[in-house]
Amino acid sequence: VGAIVGTGIFVLTGHAAAVNAGPALVISFVVAGIVSALAALCYAELASTVPIAGSAYTYTYATLGEFIAWIIGWDLILEYSVGAATVSVGWSAYFVDFLKSAFGVQFPAALHAAPSTGGFVDLPAMIIVLLVSALLIRGTGESNVVNQIIVAVKLAIVAFFIIVGAGHINPANWHPFAPFGTAGIFGGAAIIFFAYIGFDMVSTSAEECRNPKKDLPIGILGSLVLCTLLYIAVTAVLTGMVNYKQLNVASPVSFAMISVGLNWAAAIISIGAIAGLTTVLLALLYGQSRIFFAMSRDGLLPPIFSKVHPKTRTPWISSMIIGIVVMLIAGLTPIDTLAKLVNIGTLAAFVLVSIGVIVLRRSQPQLKRGFRMPGIPLVPILSILGALFLMGNLPLETWIRFVIWLLIGFVIYYFYSRRKSALA
Ligand code: ALA
Repeated sequence: VGAIVGTGIFVLTGHAAAVNAGPALVISFVVAGIVSALAALCYAELASTVPIAGSAYTYTYATLGEFIAWIIGWDLILEYSVGAATVSVGWSAYFVDFLKSAFGVQFPAALHAAPSTGGFVDLPAMIIVLLVSALLIRGTGESNVVNQIIVAVKLAIVAFFIIVGAGHINPANWHPFAPFGTAGIFGGAAIIFFAYIGFDMVSTSAEECRNPKKDLPIGILGSLVLCTLLYIAVTAVLTGMVNYKQLNVASPVSFAMISVGLNWAAAIISIGAIAGLTTVLLALLYGQSRIFFAMSRDGLLPPIFSKVHPKTRTPWISSMIIGIVVMLIAGLTPIDTLAKLVNIGTLAAFVLVSIGVIVLRRSQPQLKRGFRMPGIPLVPILSILGALFLMGNLPLETWIRFVIWLLIGFVIYYFYSRRKSALA
């Protein structure tokens, strides 16, 4: 939950309600939730069968071989690193909002916007990436304690919004319910799918679980169910408090409170969002370093990415490189461009993971599985179709960026990884 509830619900919901779906965004959340749940079953089965660090990358390596594993590892950079950049931009929005609502300080506009949106750089986004990277370099022992406290704060704030906001709903705001029709609902689902990303991250830490065969499926499926319920409630309250047309703002949840005159509540929500988004960032940067660790161990990335610090036992050089790259992306790119790229990359990973389940059942039926998903092969096939459907609802420019990204990956694989790999 620490890794899931973040920029998707706190930030992207506003834009998606205003531009894509209107109040029917609650249905978009159901659609994206179903696609995620189907994939979650596949992740749970693979995570309980191949409990090794590295998430989808490792499963694919075990089931579909090195080349497809490379594609997925490369693709997961979109989910984790670009995802971390997206979350830090959302963090920045609430941070700037908090300075204003709590202290009346106006952060210079040019310093919290990407160049293509009229700014110079998103400075708070860059700074938070650096701070969280530093925390990870110090070690996850410390980070876990911080993480758990913050997750509790985040959930309390979400509950606070639902309870306080429910008293300020004007049902007239729910009409018209679906101003942009079904196309809008599905377009909205393709964007707010971002809010669900994270349930799969549990599996990147499989090697550090006590009882992975049981803990992983519970972690993956349980967190998904909880978050779906929270999202539907938050979206219903949000679009009930404010007309959807006004929600195209950077920090819609605190904006809703301000618009009903509850400035103090807005400040509290900003603190919760800032704390909550930090844990998501922590999980994403952590996940990325573990995926690089696994890829480097297999020889697909240089050995530096699996080098562990003798004292802190963390892949510190890798975390440092990731931190610097993510910081630059976060400072210079607008949030919606980032989020769509993250979504297409993650959904593509879902497709490959779902194929992996079917393949592994056929190639190694005897293998012990802690969790066996129901309905093989129908459910994984539905998972593939669902992910492809959401991908199809993303714009052409996102597809073009995605294809270019994959082509770069092919070139690196061909000239570097293929030759250096452990298999070779
Ligand atoms: N689901 C995570 C978020 O919304 C990535 O920030």
